[in-house]
Amino acid sequence: MDTKKDFPCLNQKIGGLSPVYLDSACMSLKPRCVIDKMVEYYEQYSGCGGRSAHKFSSRTTEEVAKARQLVSDFIGAKKPEQVLFTKNTTESINLVAKSFKFKPTDIVLTTDKEHNSNLVPWLLMSRNKIIRHKTISSKPDGSFDIEAFRDLMQREKDIKMVSINHVSNIDGYKNPIKEIIEIAHDNNAVVLLDGAQSVPHTKIDVEKEDIDFLAFSGHKMCGPTGTGVLYGKEELLNELNPFIVGGDTVEDVDGDKITFLEIPEKFEAGLQDYAGIIGLGEAARYLSDIGIEKVEKHVNDLNIYLDEKIKQIENVKIIGSSDPKRRSGITNAVVEGINSHEIAMYLDEVKNIMVRDGAHCVHSWYNKTKTKASLRASLYLYNDKSDIDAYVEGLKEYIELIR
Ligand SMILES: Cc1ncc(COP(=O)(O)O)c(C=O)c1O
Repeated sequence: MDTKKDFPCLNQKIGGLSPVYLDSACMSLKPRCVIDKMVEYYEQYSGCGGRSAHKFSSRTTEEVAKARQLVSDFIGAKKPEQVLFTKNTTESINLVAKSFKFKPTDIVLTTDKEHNSNLVPWLLMSRNKIIRHKTISSKPDGSFDIEAFRDLMQREKDIKMVSINHVSNIDGYKNPIKEIIEIAHDNNAVVLLDGAQSVPHTKIDVEKEDIDFLAFSGHKMCGPTGTGVLYGKEELLNELNPFIVGGDTVEDVDGDKITFLEIPEKFEAGLQDYAGIIGLGEAARYLSDIGIEKVEKHVNDLNIYLDEKIKQIENVKIIGSSDPKRRSGITNAVVEGINSHEIAMYLDEVKNIMVRDGAHCVHSWYNKTKTKASLRASLYLYNDKSDIDAYVEGLKEYIELIR
């Protein structure tokens, strides 16, 4: 897959060296077409959407509608109105958490491998007695315990929502959502899927998979920073309480009587990040034109290559499955006896190799499993074997240097 040329960030030299970017699980780079689309907005019709009667405003309205359609098609939604634009996955999850009509006895179930964005909102709500929160533990190999889940769902009738990641950002493990959704629905629970790590890499069809809510970030799928999406089934979105309110969310205000607009406007308060939304539509078009299945295969093949090479280094322990095809382009490792932050700093400063170190916003899992901060390389469509070679060589070099 020859897409490196599409990404301006990769076609530059920093200190005479090309950058090697292996941090796409955090933030993807942006292709030229997305940047151009945003510049087009700023240079040609930088108006507000939906309000004024002039040409700049109507063009903005038209381009936002196109972007909504592109994103809606990308995830297989029935109607574009089911796509709400937000800032990121975090805001999308908070929108559901704050707006779903919970009773204090309702339980929200998460796994023990949730990103803070899908944990902290529930922990706080539980502390404030708005809901109750429960966690289901993963198996020792990090996989989802479907039997324990089925038992719990049948036993615990107060579970109202199952809020889980589709793909983990620690080990790239993909949860078996088809079975999880079936079991949840059989037991009258709604599923909120955190698709931050899956939507950029894997084909999702919200209709076929019967997904109730799906939260994801534009910036991890070649889209602009500060863009995200909440998809929901129409009847569920209509049932949500308003979230952030103000201009553009209401049809009328008369005295203290407020009439809210329909979805999606009801949840898109104030003037929006139009350049971002339009850029996100372009990102969805870019990935669709390439084919998300091709992206997934490319990333898996590269992860196999990385896995073979990294396993040859002594004392490198990979988190999660030993099968790289089951890690969605993520290879997260602990190098025994070496501080992962120091490795990351060396790779960046000396080699222009950008990886991520730390607890990857899943502190709860690192604390529970007493896992040391780790070094994560995460791959995307613009990576190739030369990136992996550079990373593994750089890693070996650092280990030799300090031993
Ligand atoms: C699994 C998962 N969920 C949620 C998030 C939060 O995404 P954002 O920071 O875009 O809101 C991330 C970000 O890395 C993630 O990996």
